[in-house]
Amino acid sequence: MHGQSISTYYANGFSQKIRGINTKERKGGAFVLSDGGQIRHKWGHVRNDRKRPEAVPFQRGKSVPRKVSGMESGPMEWVSPDVLAGLEAEGTDAHRLATGPDFWLERFGANLLLSYQTEKGRDELLAEIGQRCAGYGLEVQRIFGKYLPLAASERGAPVLLREEMGGTLETEAREAGVRYGLDFGGGYSAGLFIDQRANRARVRTSQPKRLLNTFAYTCSFSVVGALAGAETVSVDLSRRSLTRGEENFRRNGLETDGHKFIADDVLGVLPRLARRGERFDTIILDPPTFSRNQAGKAFQVQRDFDQLVVLALEVAAPGARLLLSVNHSEMQVADLERAGRGALRMAGRSGRFQASAALPDFPMGHGAKTVWLEVS
Ligand SMILES: C[S@@+](CC[C@H](N)C(=O)[O-])C[C@H]1O[C@@H](n2cnc3c(N)ncnc32)[C@H](O)[C@@H]1O
Repeated sequence: MHGQSISTYYANGFSQKIRGINTKERKGGAFVLSDGGQIRHKWGHVRNDRKRPEAVPFQRGKSVPRKVSGMESGPMEWVSPDVLAGLEAEGTDAHRLATGPDFWLERFGANLLLSYQTEKGRDELLAEIGQRCAGYGLEVQRIFGKYLPLAASERGAPVLLREEMGGTLETEAREAGVRYGLDFGGGYSAGLFIDQRANRARVRTSQPKRLLNTFAYTCSFSVVGALAGAETVSVDLSRRSLTRGEENFRRNGLETDGHKFIADDVLGVLPRLARRGERFDTIILDPPTFSRNQAGKAFQVQRDFDQLVVLALEVAAPGARLLLSVNHSEMQVADLERAGRGALRMAGRSGRFQASAALPDFPMGHGAKTVWLEVS
């Protein structure tokens, strides 16, 4: 299995070979994988002097990449230096760096996360990383690799492919000056879905009063809502993720008092909130493709998304904005709008859709499919 071969590769001493070696000696070196394959590095000079400002992506969604402004075209698209400078200027160091047909590279501060579906893609990208990052003036501490299996049961935490400076697996990244904790050893996802950057920015600028963040994960939407002055309610099956969310509040100088963190099934919590008469002006609906609650009941996004929107509308205040978001290869924005229209009809309400802003570091068609629904 892909993941195992890389783990073995690391366990066989790759990082020990790398650590402490002058970067120039490494240039053009080749290293043998435990499975007999080879990675040829063109590991360029990694600058420490940061003459350029430190410039400036679990990634989700995949379709045919197309050229958009800010990306260099070709089989592998790299973010342009201008895009990196723009991200740096806004205080963001968590973003996508490169996208290929079956792999992509995300940056989280000084860490890179290479997600791949084939070893060929992984090796192609690895071969370019050093030179590219030197060109960007990026200081790289570690490169993690994450195999993207088709079956969720095969998912594993990222493994270390290359290490420059050591350190713990826990670190921090910034998005628009907001700090988020990351844990590369904590499971399949490190802690921040960077494809929601524009939607988080929208939440912050819209200055919500009461925000309901369902499938909250590490509560990034709640953090930006709270920073904008909102009272937030975060719901997730995973208590551990919510605890990380509370840590994210504290990282940003926010008290957690007055905010709720509910470890339970969203489909059970929404009717309870509705019965209590709770209403929200901003509601985040960003469920996974598949999950199972504590009682073993399955959530399947293709089957259950419509019902989710119906339940969410029952706690939507007049004028509320709902983020509809999925990451399923067979679901498109049109499916989200269809679910939204159906729920509006059932509730006897009207509404209008607003497109999410495009991200300059994502080629068209990559990332979660999202749309905003503003209800009457
Ligand atoms: C795709 S992540 C959500 C990402 C999040 N919106 C963000 O931007 O950071 C899915 C999350 O949903 C949670 N989850 C899955 N099924 C659930 C359910 N039925 N009720 C509550 N949470 C659930 C998982 O524990 C996971 O944290």
